Amino acid sequence: MSKKLLILIIISLTILAGCGNKKEEIKKEDNMQTNNNSAVIYFSATGTTKNVAEKIAAKSNSDIIEIIPKEKYTSKDLDYNSDCRANKEQNDSKSRPEIESTIDITKYDTIYLGYPIWWGTNPKIILTLLDTYDFTGKTIIPFCTSGSTGIAGSVNDLRNYNPKLNIKDGRRFSANDSDEVIQEFINTYKKNEISVKVNINEEEYTVSLENNETTQSFINILPKEFNMSELNGNEKYVYLDNELPTNPSNIKKINAGDVMLYGNNCLVIFYKSFDTSYSYTKIGHIDNLPDLGSDNIMVKFIK
Ligand SMILES: Cc1cc2nc3c(=O)[nH]c(=O)nc-3n(C[C@H](O)[C@H](O)[C@H](O)COP(=O)(O)O)c2cc1C
Repeated sequence: MSKKLLILIIISLTILAGCGNKKEEIKKEDNMQTNNNSAVIYFSATGTTKNVAEKIAAKSNSDIIEIIPKEKYTSKDLDYNSDCRANKEQNDSKSRPEIESTIDITKYDTIYLGYPIWWGTNPKIILTLLDTYDFTGKTIIPFCTSGSTGIAGSVNDLRNYNPKLNIKDGRRFSANDSDEVIQEFINTYKKNEISVKVNINEEEYTVSLENNETTQSFINILPKEFNMSELNGNEKYVYLDNELPTNPSNIKKINAGDVMLYGNNCLVIFYKSFDTSYSYTKIGHIDNLPDLGSDNIMVKFIK
């Protein structure tokens, strides 16, 4: 090989290598300048929830924020067959383990909130998070990992803890759930971003709708104004002219702001939270709904 040719090859390789570095730099810059309005915020003591959180963040294109406890949990702290730290915290209603890092949640509309189940519910550090930052107006989509316990108990507890928050039903994952299962979860809530407006006592509210056949049919009959009757000091109801498709379940707990279908044509807006043994089909939820008082009221739903 001639000397000239060798120099030419070296120069070409240097230029190519330079291009590669530039691409790397741009990629890094893009990552730093995320414009995401969703974040996965999670606590994980032994890495199972962390693993799921990372997959959810990647698939939903969300930022990811770990809740790091000031005092990390050792395996002794987590030995739930003993009088361990985690057990003591869970048994102490006032326990609020400190969080080490400060986080900025202001730019996020949607928060995927992840945690392991500890004694049927969320670890107390999740309450520290809710105490420290203002989550009102944001959509919180809980997810958890556990040995076998479902997520419903912890979601009820979180809703009771702060009834003003818009906390979705969420989902439990096991350590080895497939990527498809995680994608399905993200899709459910993406579709769930449909909403309609409702006008009550001259105030306009947003109703975040469930993604089901009932809501699709309900949207089709809007706009509509109803004279809704008072019942039991906790709900307003009206019988619709049309029957809607149903998929009732025993939801156990009503949250103030829930909009439900009872039977196939009774539309109900609940303005108080309480336990119930009745079955309803979920239509949606109105954030920050005040006490609607004891009178019958005019309610206008707008698409
Ligand atoms: C103190 C403690 C209590 C637990 N309680 C439950 C429980 O009530 N139900 C359950 O299914 N798993 C329970 N587990 C198991 C964890 O939920 C499960 O291992 C979880 O995936 C751990 O997540 P992580 O690795 O992100 O910390 C408990 C674990 C600990 C440490």
